[in-house]
Amino acid sequence: MTAFTPERMNSYCEAEDLCPDARTAELASFQKFLHDGAGKVVLELGSGNGTLTKCLTDMGWTVDTVDIAFQAPPGARRHYNADIANGLGFLPKDAAYDAVASLAVLHHVASDPKRLPTPLADDMAAVTKPGAMVILQDVPGDAALPQMPNSPDGAAGATGADGVYGAATTTRIFAELVDPHSTPTHNGIYLQMPAISSQLTQSTGPEFEPVACFHHACDWRFPNRDTAIQYVQSLFNLDLDRNRIEAVIEPVLKTVGAQGGQIHLPWALDCLVLRRT
Ligand SMILES: C[S@@+](CC[C@H](N)C(=O)[O-])C[C@H]1O[C@@H](n2cnc3c(N)ncnc32)[C@H](O)[C@@H]1O
Repeated sequence: MTAFTPERMNSYCEAEDLCPDARTAELASFQKFLHDGAGKVVLELGSGNGTLTKCLTDMGWTVDTVDIAFQAPPGARRHYNADIANGLGFLPKDAAYDAVASLAVLHHVASDPKRLPTPLADDMAAVTKPGAMVILQDVPGDAALPQMPNSPDGAAGATGADGVYGAATTTRIFAELVDPHSTPTHNGIYLQMPAISSQLTQSTGPEFEPVACFHHACDWRFPNRDTAIQYVQSLFNLDLDRNRIEAVIEPVLKTVGAQGGQIHLPWALDCLVLRRT
């Protein structure tokens, strides 16, 4: 498990302040599958400083959040400071959510290369109502997934010799920058969404049915190259000077639009959607 130290938390918040819209495209999967939250309650795992929380509240959801390090983000109804790797036993016994959602968290709790920690998988059905959606999005662990059909940036998801372009860039940045140079260092273990789908639909009992499993191409977007480099350095709290970060990301940065336009960093996350039966 990768701990989020206070220094890493500050650095993460610095990045989000530097360019609050950089990761907006990551939210499209949630907007597609959880667009109508009116009258419903979602449990958000690993809320951080609230990027997904805001998206969910904007779609009408009442949001309960859990995070091992960060306090309640703005808009949360209830917040639990807890370790999800140990399961969801910190919730009230009668917890019954209409959805569970998670963005960029599960790679922090991976101890097995392919699956959710067993206590977390075991508790998922207990805290959801029949018909509830579970949507988990995280760092790519499997290059064989199809691409999201209406990915917000089709060009970033173009398929090449090394699979979906954005996914190849994401895994390379984790392997070359995040795993060795993030402080604290990441454990280099990434979950495979098809295996988690099997885990939740078969191993823990027939409580979930698969809805979708795909690469979501979701370029990060910046006003200029300097911001892109500074953002990557701060988001992952990299113990590296900017020249070395630039050497890794510069070859893949793309200018989009006329007269300099926006700078895109190809990015993709794996997304799994399940429905509670
Ligand atoms: C990369 S951040 C993502 C935050 C937010 N979901 C977002 O997309 O901006 C990962 C978050 O997972 C939280 N986290 C890491 N390990 C955790 C654990 N074992 N239990 C609960 N939260 C955890 C961290 O504190 C951090 O807020």
